[in-house]
Amino acid sequence: MENSIAVFGLGFVGLPLSLTYTLFGVKVYGVDINEEYIENLKQYKTHVLENYKGKTIEDILKESIEKGLFVPTTKTETALKNARDIIVTVGIPIENGTLKKEVFSNAIHSIGKFLKKGDLVLIRSTVPPGTTRNVVKPILEKESGLICCKDFYLAYSSERIAEGRAFEEFQTMPVAVGALSEESKKRAVNLLSIINKEPIIEASEPEVVEISKLIENSSRDVNIALSNELASFTERLNVDVLEVIKVANTHKRVHLLTPGVGVGGHCIPYSSLYIFDKSDEIKLPMPLLHTAREINDSRPLEILSLIESKLNNLGKTVENSVFALIGIAMKDNSSDISESPAIKMKDNILQKGGNVQWFDPNVSGNFPLKKNNLGEALKDADVVIIPIKQDNINISAEVIANNAKNGCIVFDARRILNRDDVESKGMIYLTL
Ligand SMILES: NC(=O)c1ccc[n+]([C@@H]2O[C@H](COP(=O)([O-])OP(=O)(O)OC[C@H]3O[C@@H](n4cnc5c(N)ncnc54)[C@H](O)[C@@H]3O)[C@@H](O)[C@H]2O)c1
Repeated sequence: MENSIAVFGLGFVGLPLSLTYTLFGVKVYGVDINEEYIENLKQYKTHVLENYKGKTIEDILKESIEKGLFVPTTKTETALKNARDIIVTVGIPIENGTLKKEVFSNAIHSIGKFLKKGDLVLIRSTVPPGTTRNVVKPILEKESGLICCKDFYLAYSSERIAEGRAFEEFQTMPVAVGALSEESKKRAVNLLSIINKEPIIEASEPEVVEISKLIENSSRDVNIALSNELASFTERLNVDVLEVIKVANTHKRVHLLTPGVGVGGHCIPYSSLYIFDKSDEIKLPMPLLHTAREINDSRPLEILSLIESKLNNLGKTVENSVFALIGIAMKDNSSDISESPAIKMKDNILQKGGNVQWFDPNVSGNFPLKKNNLGEALKDADVVIIPIKQDNINISAEVIANNAKNGCIVFDARRILNRDDVESKGMIYLTL
């Protein structure tokens, strides 16, 4: 048996995590159930947008495969035959408010079938409290016939990276670990320390780390909800919200985050829903977290109503207008469209009978209404919405004026444009 690692799930976390280990000379078997994606990886292609030290993730992928250090596969058996350390990054998706726990537990079942004596299973997915102890352990024991902490080792360490900075943050972001035995924790610390140079934070039990991950994300949800509520307040008072936040944050113990068009991605919105999975079970209401979710979820529609009222002032309606959405990903410089507030805006516009054309060079794939370039997306637009900042979109007041309708509305959530430039071209400038 080789001394290699198996990583389950090769998405935004699992792929750069695997490749970070290969950069340290460790051989990694990367397992994903998506066959087409595994074929793409073998041809050095991925939808994950990362880079490190001047190289794209595709460059690193190619080098690692060519050196024999990264083996993408759909076969659990091949991976587990060769690895004694197993890392799980398969998440729990949410559809229509329901947790699809089977996506995560299916991965654990497949690992359990080929688990060997002496293996370590380290969960790095974000999960509802108690998952490592009450879900992972019994599945692994049942499938393998082995006993946890005697025959195999089990630990939990949350993943804290931000997309776009993964390679760097796997090495520099402090990580915490909780385990079901001291030996499990020791093994997990050793595995994490190969790539992470910070001291590993050792917690007394996995639940501490599971819950701390959830509250790290949910605290950001609450903070952003507060800033979003503040933005609605200052908008009515005609006061600049970013200036208010800048002044408030000069207080040494205040740290307000930036308001925006909503909160996207899986990390932040899902964390509160994972908490509610447990709090509902124990019948604890947790109104603050629920309210934060409601405020952030209603942002795209709230902003659209604001734009709609300005449009109505011009004698136009959503129905007879063309909306250009410039940047559709869930946050700045991302390729991830999951739970994207910009997509919610798009869907709301379409529901109201409006016309949409959008452009985002970071979002690959053929989507309806997606345009090939900025000019096409802006063409004859009555409203231009810039929900996020993609550095590779070269937008300016001039390019909008040259393509969109005369006197169009420009909603610039990230303050990329200069108000005077936009207004000097006869357009209406709106921001948060
Ligand atoms: N994306 C982030 O920035 C981030 C940051 C911190 C934590 N997390 C957490 O990490 C986990 C993974 O997130 P992600 O963004 O990488 O998800 P993702 O959806 O991009 O990737 C998950 C991958 O798992 C694969 N998969 C599904 N079932 C499988 C199975 N049975 N066996 C093998 N592979 C399987 C999917 O095909 C997919 O490629 C989640 O729990 C998430 O909450 C994500």
